[in-house]
Amino acid sequence: MTIQEELQATISDMVQPGKGILAADESTPTITKRFQAVGIECNESTRRAYRQLLLTTPGVGEFIAGVILFEETLAQQADDGTPLPELARRAGIVPGIKVDKGLTALANAPGDKITQGLDGLAERLAGYKEQGARFAKWRAVYPIGPANPTALGIQTNAEVLARYAAICQEAGIVPIVEPEVLIDGDHGIAQSEAVVEAAQNEVFAALKRHRVRLEYMILKPSMVVPGKACATKASPEEVAERTVRILRRTVPAAVPSVNFLSGGLSPQEASANLNAMNAGYSNLPWLLSFSYARALQEPPMATWQGKAENIGAAQAAFIKRARLNGLAQRGQYQAAMEQD
Ligand code: 13P
Repeated sequence: MTIQEELQATISDMVQPGKGILAADESTPTITKRFQAVGIECNESTRRAYRQLLLTTPGVGEFIAGVILFEETLAQQADDGTPLPELARRAGIVPGIKVDKGLTALANAPGDKITQGLDGLAERLAGYKEQGARFAKWRAVYPIGPANPTALGIQTNAEVLARYAAICQEAGIVPIVEPEVLIDGDHGIAQSEAVVEAAQNEVFAALKRHRVRLEYMILKPSMVVPGKACATKASPEEVAERTVRILRRTVPAAVPSVNFLSGGLSPQEASANLNAMNAGYSNLPWLLSFSYARALQEPPMATWQGKAENIGAAQAAFIKRARLNGLAQRGQYQAAMEQD
């Protein structure tokens, strides 16, 4: 297979109606925080058991087409010795890998962050590919505040995302490009809309500059929502209207799929918002789907509690969220289904 055929095959496997992506790529500090919040001890063995639980959920491949793993998980094995990426593959799920190395302060842009991990990326990708990864993810963040994000932050994060994406494609790895506009703060939805537009505009300018082939990438953006502490809430219809408007302005039709992050929305909000986009707008050039971590995992993690006897109930909680988001991708989700 040529590199181009390889990229196309991965896109074809990952971009399917009624399916989305499971982000299970929490770094060790992040999964520690999430486990501790629900009283689960965090060590190599509980992380492995938990991710095995997700990947062995019966029927998961019906709603999940790709899974983003953390480096540690890529090398872990199930109880029977099967490598976890192989477990995903057998379930019909494409394994991928988070390749960024986290955030640091961006010099001369107080309050903004830049993502690290470009040095040695090509070499790391070759290793991840041998372990079964066919796509990658890189997360840039944009905090909203009185002076943030700065123009420098927006430009620099776009440049780094584009360099990452170009390096991935050269290696035959599909890049998920994730510009995350943070939900923290009391800003209104209009400010969020302006920042999402500015960030995505700059990202696509940089992708073009770096000759990234848009047909072989996936965008993982934030929905346009008000800040978490904003007194004025937004309906799913308003979120859908503003989010789709900005996607239309900023995302070329060549991009096959837009898979939203959940970013601190509740599982129900994340499903309702995605559904409003797919129910309210047709003939969009991209598939609109999900790439959720918290909105898919909060219920199963809280149900599991690290106990073997809870695995079945945790898997039921997980497949329920996967199914409801699969329906939201088709515009067929209804809030009443939460009671089923
Ligand atoms: P959330 O859905 O919890 O925002 O996580 C998605 C993700 O992969 C962040 O990088």
